Amino acid sequence: MERAKRILTGDRPTGRLHLGHWVGSLSARVRLQYEYDTILIVADLHMLTTKRSRGDIGNLLPNVRGLVLDYLASGMEPERSCIYLQSAVAETHELHTYLENFAKVDRLLRLPSLKQMARDAKASEQSLPFGLLGYPVLQAADILLARANLAPVGRDNLAHIEISRELARQFNATYGRVFPEPEPLLTDIPALVGTDNRGKMSKSAGNAIFLSDDEQTVVAKVRGMFTDPKRIRADIPGSVEGNPVFVYHRIFNENRAEVEELEKRYRTGKVGDTEVKEKLARALNLFLRPFRERFAFYGDKPRLIDQILLNGTTRVRRIAAETMGEVRERMGIKRVWKTLKIE
Ligand code: TRP
Repeated sequence: MERAKRILTGDRPTGRLHLGHWVGSLSARVRLQYEYDTILIVADLHMLTTKRSRGDIGNLLPNVRGLVLDYLASGMEPERSCIYLQSAVAETHELHTYLENFAKVDRLLRLPSLKQMARDAKASEQSLPFGLLGYPVLQAADILLARANLAPVGRDNLAHIEISRELARQFNATYGRVFPEPEPLLTDIPALVGTDNRGKMSKSAGNAIFLSDDEQTVVAKVRGMFTDPKRIRADIPGSVEGNPVFVYHRIFNENRAEVEELEKRYRTGKVGDTEVKEKLARALNLFLRPFRERFAFYGDKPRLIDQILLNGTTRVRRIAAETMGEVRERMGIKRVWKTLKIE
């Protein structure tokens, strides 16, 4: 029987997930898990390309557990989706090394994502870490190791999937067909704006509402949200388009009638910001309710989280061993080992 198509996607364990992640990737993943064999990677090796200080690594364990918890709270079901820790699958390094020989430095240097990551990490382009240059090759190793058919990613990662496809093609052309060419699946159109309206929601910009924020925090963050600055009084007509308060209302408030009515009153100067924001906070808290139930469920079962990650990692180790057995065989490395009686 042909196996269900496989998806591989995931995140670096660098902090808790927020509404921007929900809109950009999590909601799609939750849906896709019912159709595909879904593997989520906790990409700690990728984290090391930009965050590798002792402090960063000191936070690794809570960040890994926090990420797994956020996945579960979002509705990823451990019976359907496998979650694994990248660094614990040693074959990742091996496949990465083989793929590196097909990757072209000039091609990698031209990627806009590299420049962005270098800027974010305050690494200069003149002295770029070798590992950061190889970021997309390592990502290809993750995807090809699992022989995933599909990689749902955001716009900033789209070119990386293209690299994965090229490397799969080149490997297959050289040694015989081992890897499917992974298809990208763009999930983040458009990115969710932050509470301050200054670009997309992100932890580092301090403009995020986290999935794990409690009710009071959500109320306070919404109260402080950027809104139409022209409206110094409630009777001044305001603009709804591009106003983050209404962007959120449209996405997260399930009460369509309320949103339409608020928009109409806002445009005609018949509603105060306080009311619009109070209703948004209420809608967000309603939206986050099922997340909070799952946070509460898993929150007092820390060993369950570790067990889920262990199970996922064990499964991916098995998949990886199988793939790499075939890779070494096709490359002719296995024959050398065998002749030398190295097993
Ligand atoms: N690069 C992804 C990010 O931006 C994380 C990641 C690592 C990934 N390996 C992957 C995503 C494989 C999809 C497929 O966080």
